[in-house]
Amino acid sequence: MSKKEQISRRRFLTILGGIPLAGAVLAPTAAMTQFLYPPASLRTPPKPLQVASLSELPVGGLKEFEYNDAPAALVRKSEQEILAFYRKCTHLGCTVIWKPEDKIFFCPCHGGKFDLDGKNIGGPPPKPLIALQVTVDGDKVIVQERSA
Ligand code: FES
Repeated sequence: MSKKEQISRRRFLTILGGIPLAGAVLAPTAAMTQFLYPPASLRTPPKPLQVASLSELPVGGLKEFEYNDAPAALVRKSEQEILAFYRKCTHLGCTVIWKPEDKIFFCPCHGGKFDLDGKNIGGPPPKPLIALQVTVDGDKVIVQERSA
């Protein structure tokens, strides 16, 4: 057996011996990651939040606000229909911008476009903006995350 083959065998055995060590390091790391970033099903949803009053939101009006530390928008499509979305692009997560002249939400990162319903209508975004549940209580417009 040549010296080169012996070194190769030693390296192989070193790598083989390192597998249990890697497992011993990665298993607690994976458990810690689950603790820090639990799956959405285990996450406590953010509390409902009053973001506007009906009187300040005319039909056709739009209001931007923060919810759950993220940019969001409220759209009053008609007297009865009010929609809300997170303004996070469903492509790679950039913040979309309302373009009143085109009546679309536009993503400056790669040109994604969403209509007033939050539906993806152009560019690379694969799905609509994430909608929030809207409740009207008297004059209060309240948003909260939709239950899964
Ligand atoms: S992140 Fe919005 S289009 Fe790419």
